[in-house]
Amino acid sequence: MEELDRRALLRRAGLVAGAGVLAGLAGCDPDPAGNGRGTGPAGQTAGAAGQGAGPGGWAGVRGQFELDPGKRHFAAFVLASHPRPVAEAIEQHRRGLQADTDGYLEDHGQRLDRQARTAAADYLGGDRGQVVFTRSTTDGLGLLYGGLRLRPGQEVVTTTHDFYSTHEALRLRAERTGARLRRITLYEDPAAVTTGRLVAAVRRGLDPRTRVLAQTWVHSGTGVKLPMAEICAAVADHNRGRAPADRVLVCADAVHALGVEPEAVPDLGCDFLVAGCHKWLFGPRGTGVVWGRREAWAEVTGTVPSFSGAGIGAWIEGRKPAGPRPALFEPGGYHAYEHRWALAEAFRFHLDLGKRAVADRTRALATRLKDGLAGIPGVRLVTPRDPELSAGIVCLEVAGRNPGELVADLRRQGILASATPYAEPYLRLGPSIVTSEEDVDAAVAAIRGLA
Ligand SMILES: Cc1ncc(COP(=O)(O)O)c(C=O)c1O
Repeated sequence: MEELDRRALLRRAGLVAGAGVLAGLAGCDPDPAGNGRGTGPAGQTAGAAGQGAGPGGWAGVRGQFELDPGKRHFAAFVLASHPRPVAEAIEQHRRGLQADTDGYLEDHGQRLDRQARTAAADYLGGDRGQVVFTRSTTDGLGLLYGGLRLRPGQEVVTTTHDFYSTHEALRLRAERTGARLRRITLYEDPAAVTTGRLVAAVRRGLDPRTRVLAQTWVHSGTGVKLPMAEICAAVADHNRGRAPADRVLVCADAVHALGVEPEAVPDLGCDFLVAGCHKWLFGPRGTGVVWGRREAWAEVTGTVPSFSGAGIGAWIEGRKPAGPRPALFEPGGYHAYEHRWALAEAFRFHLDLGKRAVADRTRALATRLKDGLAGIPGVRLVTPRDPELSAGIVCLEVAGRNPGELVADLRRQGILASATPYAEPYLRLGPSIVTSEEDVDAAVAAIRGLA
């Protein structure tokens, strides 16, 4: 109904020439009512209780990727190759848009947009009105940290372990607005972290001025996975008795957790979670999400004009936009819709495999890799052995060897790894649903040969 009114409004205003434009706008509107619950229970591992890797096993899953079969893909998570259902969806939408952009948008835009948001909500938990689409983690972090409201005297606390995207988004915010930033260190030796010490370090890092805790769930520089639910519980404890405007909001870069960790996002207790969908989720390149707790959305304003009905309708009528905050926060403009809409298939791919099955598989391969590396003289594991405090990323150091050179040496042997882009670089491997036990054993053997 809202959509029809908007179309009529826009047509009346004579501001747009063709129906395709309207459909394009329609395609960018996060569920305005915010009540579009997904059909499946994100949090559960239902998929988990479902088929797991399916009849073809994990080799069958691997077979759905066009990755070079002659190589062992331990850096596939850096920027994803996507599996067949995603590739086919992209191709189908691309063809439709190439043939008749206006018509395809008009006929299919709203439905495909809703499908993608519903699949995201089914995967993440909550409802589709809580999900905003972006182009990447970096996009989402920039929008979130640029738009969170801070009152005079309030500060943002981040950690020394976060990636450039978080630090730079906050630095830009501080430069623009004078916002106060503080960095805390959660650990000195990543391999020796414990849940208790990590939570205690966060508790120590908060003070009465802290409004935002900006952290990364799985550290891409060390492989440490923060105990997010426990940290959120500690923050909730800190917040007890504080006025809503003084409570600490927990925000997380979750890009190395999305597609690996099985928890439903609402169960974690965080306020905002930001991730690209083109790493461990193996979704379309150039896609990402920001998930926000319903009440928390009120704390953030948009930066890029939205193409939501509320935004454009208000502009036409010459008033300030009002309406669901996620819709107004989501960047507008026309998008690479063939990729955005194919997010439906990316989330469904994981739901069909089962979130728990994917988590268990990733964890089993990472453990196998760590066990193999631990016995090699000259190799120091940087990532914790404990699967509760690590995810798919495995970082290591080889005595006397430069990580960049090791990456090149491994590549010559068909083993694709990466070096961490941090001041203290490490060799980094990411076993995932596109690697096998054999790949892991080959990587261990190759590193033994290089140590
Ligand atoms: C922790 C972390 N956040 C964000 C990014 C950037 O992700 P995106 O390409 O989705 O912006 C990376 C690495 O690429 C990362 O390691």
